[in-house]
Amino acid sequence: MTTVVRQAVVADVSSIAEICSTAYRDAYRELLPPGYIDRSVVAFYDAERVARDVAAAPPDWFGYQVVEEGGRVLGAAGGGMSGPATGELSLIYLAAAARGRGLGTLLLDRVTEQIRAAGGTEMWVSVFLGDQRGIGFYRARGFEPVDTVRAALSRVDDHIRSLRMRRLL
Ligand SMILES: CC(C)(COP(=O)(O)OP(=O)(O)OC[C@H]1O[C@@H](n2cnc3c(N)ncnc32)[C@H](O)[C@@H]1OP(=O)(O)O)[C@@H](O)C(=O)NCCC(=O)NCCS
Repeated sequence: MTTVVRQAVVADVSSIAEICSTAYRDAYRELLPPGYIDRSVVAFYDAERVARDVAAAPPDWFGYQVVEEGGRVLGAAGGGMSGPATGELSLIYLAAAARGRGLGTLLLDRVTEQIRAAGGTEMWVSVFLGDQRGIGFYRARGFEPVDTVRAALSRVDDHIRSLRMRRLL
């Protein structure tokens, strides 16, 4: 089966929303409070939000990237520039059946190339503290932990923190 990584188009919106929402709930069920998960899924991976974000708005956002096999979308990722030489990987999610055979790395490579092409010399990602699978994946791809910060959408009394990881390009 042919594997393709490409820029997403409007026709991919429902697949992206479905894959990201399901993978997010699945990945963090044991780690994060249900209210926080619901809030985040609505804020980031609701079909309307994905539809607004599908197109690129460079250099801050290169638009959603998708990986497909045999014409079926199995995963999505996205990133952009957070400074003149600094890139950010904002998200990367795969359908459950598509994990562990290199598709996540293909998406990561794609966003990495976009950041490099825009002049990035380093790349950052946020991972929830305690997400050992996520942290393991990024470590295996050369990212190193640098700092911890309050997680996006976390309220003061949630105490949800993210690990900031960096890789030089
Ligand atoms: C995280 C995710 C994007 C990775 O994509 P993937 O296609 O499954 O991963 P790949 O097959 O490309 O590569 C996995 C690599 O990371 C390594 N890895 C993964 N988890 C690891 C861990 N806990 N410890 C050490 N290495 C780990 C694998 O050994 C492999 O490296 P290798 O090819 O050198 O052996 C995907 O599994 C996913 O969507 N998971 C659910 C969502 C999630 O957990 N997201 C967290 C990140 S935001």
